[in-house]
Amino acid sequence: MTEAQWDQRYSEFEQMWSGAPNGALVVEVAGLTPGRVLDVGCGEGADAIWLAANGWSVTAVEVSGIALGRAAQHAADANVAVHWVHAGLVEAALPPASFDLVSAQYPALLQTPDAAAERALLDAVALGGVLLLVHHAGMEDHRHEGSSFNNAEFVWPRMVAALLDDEWVIEVDEVRPRAVPEGGAGAHHADDVILRARRRP
Ligand SMILES: C[S@@+](CC[C@H](N)C(=O)[O-])C[C@H]1O[C@@H](n2cnc3c(N)ncnc32)[C@H](O)[C@@H]1O
Repeated sequence: MTEAQWDQRYSEFEQMWSGAPNGALVVEVAGLTPGRVLDVGCGEGADAIWLAANGWSVTAVEVSGIALGRAAQHAADANVAVHWVHAGLVEAALPPASFDLVSAQYPALLQTPDAAAERALLDAVALGGVLLLVHHAGMEDHRHEGSSFNNAEFVWPRMVAALLDDEWVIEVDEVRPRAVPEGGAGAHHADDVILRARRRP
């Protein structure tokens, strides 16, 4: 269902997002040493491509084949290598504890009773690595007019924060004005909620 929904949404636009990397990602990554990164719900690939161009070894997982096709084309145009995984985050069953950075920017993951998506985000982070989860602030109850998407079904940063135990140090947990990219379907969102947590070595 999720894949069909997202493919349908992407098929409505030739290009859905701005093509620029997300501002919160650029800010939060500035102090990190490039290593292995997982981009969760990479969409049309702007973050993955920017990370690869900045020395990261990038795996990008995305449920929509349409978005992933565009992302791969943009990466080829930019002459950067990204390991693309066409799957949902949970279904991808990525090797645990194997990414120095797990970046999920506005990821639209569905809640389940067993918190599978939240746990998949946390499990992917290597010892000493960072989880960076960014979402739109104040949007948890928003219903999209004329759409089957319902924000109340999504995983929000506070739900992941609630699972952090003493294996983790919270480095950032705040709402911040968003550096809004020019153009793209998300340009109307003004504030980000940012969770950045480091897994203890
Ligand atoms: C709001 S968009 C954000 C895209 C991108 N991160 C960005 O900032 O431009 C959410 C993305 O997550 C993808 N997605 C939704 N559920 C997913 C899942 N379970 N696993 C992987 N990707 C998923 C969607 O297809 C969509 O591309």
